[in-house]
Amino acid sequence: MALLELQELTKAYQRGGRSFNAVNRASLSVEPGDFISIIGRSGSGKTTLLNMGAGLLRPSAGTVLFEEKDIHRLNDKEISLLRNEKIGYVPQGQSLLSNFTVFDNLCIPWFLFKREGDVEGRAFILLEKVGISHLAASYPRELSGGEMRRAAIARALINEPRILIADEPTGDLDAKTTTEIMDLFSHIAREGTAVLIVTHELDTLDYGNKTYAMDAGNLLPHTA
Ligand SMILES: Nc1ncnc2c1ncn2[C@@H]1O[C@H](COP(=O)(O)OP(=O)(O)O)[C@@H](O)[C@H]1O
Ligand SMILES: [Mg+2]
Repeated sequence: MALLELQELTKAYQRGGRSFNAVNRASLSVEPGDFISIIGRSGSGKTTLLNMGAGLLRPSAGTVLFEEKDIHRLNDKEISLLRNEKIGYVPQGQSLLSNFTVFDNLCIPWFLFKREGDVEGRAFILLEKVGISHLAASYPRELSGGEMRRAAIARALINEPRILIADEPTGDLDAKTTTEIMDLFSHIAREGTAVLIVTHELDTLDYGNKTYAMDAGNLLPHTA
């Protein structure tokens, strides 16, 4: 059973009085343990595709099945709960809340739906896993770009999602940090959480077991 299935997804926008498809009948299937990267230049529709797949944006046409459920048929509350429980999302750029410590940033998605249990223990394990447990009490402004990205990845994993979706997670990082973050995604995928990332950089394409290219809204299997 596919974990996430995008079927012929289309998003139409208006520009200059005309309609164009930012995403045009894109189909993609994510299985548990998959590590999928999508490469495409700026403006090709990558963020729009991810946002539809994560339930953040309603498609103009097409279907998003998460564990065989059509997520755009759920109401807002049901979608929020499903996203909070099952989909870890790492947005493009800096996304940590600046007035909270790294540790508290991690815990927030846990408390949104009033969970019980040892969130603090889990947060520390995750910070260790992403290599920044020494920064638990720091604020985002005290972190480097790579450290912030690690914190955002750990936050996305706090509720043990089935899939981790990341939008250009290495876009603003140097080559060495990029390699470290990509290795971290490989590790996460091997542990069984599916990983879906979009990127405009060729050097991240060696990772993952499936690669696609996005060009002017069209998604195709990538050939080197
Ligand atoms: N809300 C919107 N309204 C109109 N056009 C949009 C909107 N969001 C994105 N677009 C356009 O859709 C295209 C794809 O955008 P996006 O998905 O952000 O691309 P990418 O993430 O690959 O850079 C771009 O031409 C962008 O300008
Ligand atoms: Mg984008």
